[in-house]
Amino acid sequence: AGVFTFDPGFTSTAACESKITFIDGDKGELLYRGYPIEQLAEKSHYLEVCYLLLYGELPDAAQLEDFENRVTRHTMLHEQMQYFYRGFRRDAHPMAIVCGVVGAMSAFYHDSTDINDPWQREVATIRLIAKMPTIVAWAFKYSIGQPFVYPRNDLDYASNFLHMCFAVPAEEYHVDPVLARAMDRIFTLHADHEQNASTSTVRLAGSSGANPFACIAAGVACLWGPAHGGANEACLNMLREIGTVDRIPEYIKRAKDKDDPFRLMGFGHRVYKNFDPRAKVMKQSADEVLHLLGIDDNPTLQVAKELERIALEDEYFIEKKLYPNVDFYSGIILEAMGFPTSMFTALFAMSRTVGWIAQWKEMIEEKSKIGRPRQLYTGPVRRDYVEVENR
Ligand code: CMC
Repeated sequence: AGVFTFDPGFTSTAACESKITFIDGDKGELLYRGYPIEQLAEKSHYLEVCYLLLYGELPDAAQLEDFENRVTRHTMLHEQMQYFYRGFRRDAHPMAIVCGVVGAMSAFYHDSTDINDPWQREVATIRLIAKMPTIVAWAFKYSIGQPFVYPRNDLDYASNFLHMCFAVPAEEYHVDPVLARAMDRIFTLHADHEQNASTSTVRLAGSSGANPFACIAAGVACLWGPAHGGANEACLNMLREIGTVDRIPEYIKRAKDKDDPFRLMGFGHRVYKNFDPRAKVMKQSADEVLHLLGIDDNPTLQVAKELERIALEDEYFIEKKLYPNVDFYSGIILEAMGFPTSMFTALFAMSRTVGWIAQWKEMIEEKSKIGRPRQLYTGPVRRDYVEVENR
């Protein structure tokens, strides 16, 4: 027995103290270690943001160079891991592959599964951030039947990722710096988001003392769902299904209908009851990328913009404070870059890895208790077993 607070969905329970990320949902504000996301997206870059999230301060030039060198030295995957990929069906969802491969890292990098050794925690952190792009790019290459492309350490983080995804041995591939910048910004915008479902999953898994690779695999699994990271894939599929601006009212009507399970994907957020600040940056990026690629008239972008306009003027969405979230525009950019929708959530997982690992490290360093929610039991009261012939 005991008295517990009943809070399904954890809408009002703080499960931990954290110094990493702050969200003011009413103002639509997101800060990483105190720095506004808009400033970081404009002036910083992903690896610097990784450093900030992990160690609490922006690095000076020497610290940044050292961090970038350390990450760069770990971009290769153990060669044996290729066999692991080859065991999957070609049509496997990239998230299924990423989830499996990240979990399998505990077998390939056994030395950094010792969570009590601060140095090994650091090595695991660097390995995860460095190898995630290779893991995700190879999941993509495998699904399209192309050879794996090894990382290139002379390229920056985002350019190297694009290279591993789109280069083929048959011809030269040059990464467009504008696309690399847009890619890097997508990584930055997704880097952390305090105690969302997947981060809480990572913390809960880690609270038992499980190794970091197993914990991140748990985070990947949780992120996959359409209510969470899977929303970017679901959103683009929805925009394509709507297809033309004239069909928008039909979908708005469905989203408002209590008897229809359909929701506007990329809309609404547990914490933001005002604009998601990430969505604003993403919308601007979508405009830039599509302009660069000469596809400003992209019908999906037009449907997205019009859908946003109509929803924001609609009584239902106003009253429920439903605004576009980070996933609303990201898919349009990723599609324009050449990624299939099935890759979107894997890209999210790759970007969020730093947030998961920063939160995992913070939890370990604070020597947290094992996470162990209680319940309100609503099942049968005590009863005696009945032999099968008497049932
Ligand atoms: N379309 C239509 N109605 C909605 C939507 C939507 N997208 N989102 C919420 N509502 C309604 C919902 O029906 C409910 O109405 P009522 O109070 O009458 O029952 C009310 O708004 C509150 O919704 P909720 O589901 O209780 O709110 P929540 O905080 O549990 O859910 C959410 C947040 C993000 C899961 C939800 O808004 C949603 O399903 N959105 C669509 C999926 C999506 O875009 N997810 C990405 C979130 S941001 C990135 C990430 O987390 O990975």
